Amino acid sequence: SFTIDISHPTGNISPNMWGVFFEDINLGADGGIYAELIKNRSFEFADPFMGWKKLGEKIGEGTFLVLNRKDKPNNPRFLRVNTSLSSEKVGLQNEGFRGMGIKQGLRYDFSVLYKQAVPGITLRLQLVDTLGAVIGESTLRPEKTGTDWQKQQISFRAAKTEPKAKLVLWFEGKGTLDVDMISLFPEDTWKNRPGGLRKDMVQLLADMKPGFIRFPGGCIVEGRDLANRFQWKKTVGPIEDRKLIINRWNTEFKHRLTPDYYQSFGLGFFEYFQLAEDIGAEPLPILNCGMACQFNTAELVPIDELDEYVQDALDLIEFANGDTGTKWGKLRAEMGHPLPFNLKMLGVGNENWGPQYIERLEVFKKALNERYPNIKIVASSGTDPEGERFEFLNKELRRLKVDFIDEHYYRSPDWFLTHANRYDAYDRQGPKIFAGEYAAHTDRTAGTGNRNNWKAAIAEAAFLTGVERNADVVGMASYAPLFAHVDGWQWTPDLIWVDNLQAYGTPNYQVQKLYAINKGTHVISVRMDNVIPSGQDGLYASAVLDSKTNEAIIKVVNHNDYPINGSFNIQTKENLAKEVEHIVLTAGLAEENSIQHPNKVSPKIDKVTLKGKTIISDLSPYSFHIFKIKIK
Ligand code: AHR
Repeated sequence: SFTIDISHPTGNISPNMWGVFFEDINLGADGGIYAELIKNRSFEFADPFMGWKKLGEKIGEGTFLVLNRKDKPNNPRFLRVNTSLSSEKVGLQNEGFRGMGIKQGLRYDFSVLYKQAVPGITLRLQLVDTLGAVIGESTLRPEKTGTDWQKQQISFRAAKTEPKAKLVLWFEGKGTLDVDMISLFPEDTWKNRPGGLRKDMVQLLADMKPGFIRFPGGCIVEGRDLANRFQWKKTVGPIEDRKLIINRWNTEFKHRLTPDYYQSFGLGFFEYFQLAEDIGAEPLPILNCGMACQFNTAELVPIDELDEYVQDALDLIEFANGDTGTKWGKLRAEMGHPLPFNLKMLGVGNENWGPQYIERLEVFKKALNERYPNIKIVASSGTDPEGERFEFLNKELRRLKVDFIDEHYYRSPDWFLTHANRYDAYDRQGPKIFAGEYAAHTDRTAGTGNRNNWKAAIAEAAFLTGVERNADVVGMASYAPLFAHVDGWQWTPDLIWVDNLQAYGTPNYQVQKLYAINKGTHVISVRMDNVIPSGQDGLYASAVLDSKTNEAIIKVVNHNDYPINGSFNIQTKENLAKEVEHIVLTAGLAEENSIQHPNKVSPKIDKVTLKGKTIISDLSPYSFHIFKIKIK
């Protein structure tokens, strides 16, 4: 039997305890949450025609020319179409990101940058299904002439739902037309923002009520080499001036080649901050510390040449928080957000290691602390939660007195079950812990056998009782990675899976969400026969008090293949409401959610009645329970 002492809280729970980790991996951004449907819209991929196919019986030499201009170094290429050089009609087809998800009746907004000396070419747009049938069309007549680039837009509705549509552009009439930034967005973006984010994906995040959002990664912060590191300044301002780079996850794993994986930065740092604000999450940007991904080239910036990197960090704070009279605050205002985003914390480095990381971090820390003493610094202790590398970094990061140590662990379900007490004896004096990336892996990382099943999710639920119990030392926690596309992924498991039309939360998502929406404000003690329940007899438990709703919330996991008759004695002088809300999440260990069955593993809610101040409830095999007790 369990005893819960609700009168003596043992620690505070940070309001931003449970959050999300966003990275553009598995088509998370381009082809995912960023709702652009055109792949390689500005012809900047390594092969300018990647994603495009030329159409026409006889395409004359020089009909399609890729020109490279000097005056737009961030977006040098554009396409010159000269139909006079072809005797037949010519066109271009864009394949989208594993096709384009199109919905019947929905409005689609097409836009293009163009220039022309004289009018001549008309663009006929056709959305086609997999059989080539037209499911939506329109015509755009470029109106303006001259040497300046013009933007023109046209909208049309789709006649049919199609998960893998393509867009065809026919260039009709004789003449020459220069085109760039060919774009197609659905109208139903999050908050209906033109050029915005996929609503269903953002909604799944919003439903978690995340306390923070970490962005933009992950290894993409580091980049496969320093030239291809994530540079936030190249992701803000007009989208046609954001410099596209190859994604660090391009062609990473042999069983899922993705040679067409680039970062257009349509989802850039402004949009990340805006997303954080929209879903009520604290923004947590992570910046490159002068080291490329150590799983790739491990390139380093000489320590005396770090200035540019440090300046990026200082300028980012100005971009987020500076007043509109400052250079970067002004840009934020011009982009539509005069008020500050209230950035409070910043990560330096992702999974970097060795004395080289510590040396570079020290330079950043000094500059950041001097200029912005209130900004909390998050530093990473890497991928290994217990080895020599971890020992070294953990010691050094404590010596440097960083505010948060970002720990990552991708381990077996058994590891999660046996480490539920990981934080029970952690040092309470030093930095707080950010459990920044974790997931139970049922098989090798990124393998097809590595499943988002209940076996993994219940192990995480059990482990997280230990995180919640130690919320005074673990200040933030997030599962990783966040998103994966069923037709284009490098990494399994992932919290949320999508195809071009739908998105669903995995059992692991359900676990994270249950913790996040039942996070409470204070930790309270749970004992099972006088000891902390962290795996004895296959049982795990933690409890919190919510001083805002006046509730005690107990979380318990039965990791046995047989039911347990649970008895929870609440110790308090307060009166308790008789009816207790009971949420249960359970399934067979191999069960998963899917596009076809998105809610197969999802919480069920019922009521139990208090007997005196005791809850008696059957805990079914392999189940996760939440009991919510109202204090009167
Ligand atoms: O979440 C996937 C990757 O795992 C992240 O990019 C990296 O930080 C970690 O190694």
